[in-house]
Amino acid sequence: MEKIISLAKRRGFVFPSSEIYGGLQNSWDFGPLGVELKNNIKEAWWKRFVHQRSDMLGIDAALLMSSKVWEASGHLKEFSDPLVECEKCRVRFRADALKKEDCPDCGGKLTAPRQFNLMLKTYLGAVEGKAAEVYFRPETAQGIFVNFKNILDTTRKQLPFGVGQVGKAFRNEITPGNFIYRTREFEQMEIEYFINPPEKESDWNKYFEMWRKETLDWIEYLGIDLKDINELEIPKEELAHYSKRTIDFEYKFPFGTKELCGLAYRTDFDLKNHGEKSGENLKYKDSETGQEFYPHVIEPSFGVERLVLAAMCSAYHEDFVPTSGNETETRVVLKFPKWLAPVKVAVLPLSKKEELSRKAKEIHGILRKKFVAEYDETQSIGKRYRRQDEIGTPYCVTIDFDSLEDKAVTVRDRDTMKQERIKINELGTYLEEKLEEK
Ligand code: GAP
Repeated sequence: MEKIISLAKRRGFVFPSSEIYGGLQNSWDFGPLGVELKNNIKEAWWKRFVHQRSDMLGIDAALLMSSKVWEASGHLKEFSDPLVECEKCRVRFRADALKKEDCPDCGGKLTAPRQFNLMLKTYLGAVEGKAAEVYFRPETAQGIFVNFKNILDTTRKQLPFGVGQVGKAFRNEITPGNFIYRTREFEQMEIEYFINPPEKESDWNKYFEMWRKETLDWIEYLGIDLKDINELEIPKEELAHYSKRTIDFEYKFPFGTKELCGLAYRTDFDLKNHGEKSGENLKYKDSETGQEFYPHVIEPSFGVERLVLAAMCSAYHEDFVPTSGNETETRVVLKFPKWLAPVKVAVLPLSKKEELSRKAKEIHGILRKKFVAEYDETQSIGKRYRRQDEIGTPYCVTIDFDSLEDKAVTVRDRDTMKQERIKINELGTYLEEKLEEK
């Protein structure tokens, strides 16, 4: 984990937030490579689950929602963790995550547990007070439920169909930690998939199974080996207040096997509560039978940062490569799937000589229009290859003095380290095809 955190910081994936002022506890910023990685995940998710499916739509709701939403959804009452505090050092812990009865930090006595609501509160307008209180959403899901009628009225979609959303969520976690694994501000990618009210268990279970499979396929697409995934069936007594069945997909993180994403059967809990509390008709009307009812919901839910972290852990490799002096050195390489790599191609002139760098910059200018492409002319070519391996760049293009004569360049593959000579005028197409390959 230390190696990954250090690489993430050193190469510009993730920085501690507000670092020049000493940082803000467990808050992180995504740097130039981190934002590319994160955007690649969000874009691929949207394409796969919203654009490429005929039964899906998208939405982007506000982060701040009326407090009435959280009253109806049950979050104000139920969305809490048991908190205990050390009477000696005053550090707070989640009671359900503790393995001993006294304080893990100083051995002091702990208070009796009390329920601590995880919603992050703020005030709207110039006057602070109960009336101005609002909450940042703790899940993106509710933005979909409260817009259900708007979506139905504007799209006339027939059941079953789903609505996807990508956006920030906030939770005042008692014990954030493990780098970007558990934070108070994070991003979710959620789908609420609406189905007919089931008459028997198999009526909802078939959709649950469909999304279980879709979830596993997506995890695999990120380059994560399914051998490192554990499906945890949440026992009835531990289910969230809205859920009838939940599977946590756990990943073997270096700090333990922990939840990566989840899949829940939320029944008609949310639509029904919002319908009844708001007084709006949130029922769906079947066009054939004319019957009105609250659809039931299957919900696959993904945390973006957790996927980023799991993808980085899965991609991280160290191998040994020969040096020019007949010795071996360690090569750190992030073996991301090509579509996920933050930089697709690096352009490296063999030397800084004017005629080479002029040609290399010209090639970089052309490639940059198609791919995220870096240009690097400092230090030895070996060191520059290592730098690109370390951030997972699938291809390096080297321009040497022969390039000026034969109008060709050397393309090096990150994984095989094999090199191929390619004509400059065929380079764009060549890379496009290579990047499409698995
Ligand atoms: N709408 C359902 C829901 O929010 P959840 O299991 O509480 O369910 C879903 O959260 C996903 O959001 C988790 O599987 C995880 O990936 C991500 N997530 C939840 N809390 C998080 C936190 N504090 N930091 C980072 N990601 C978090």
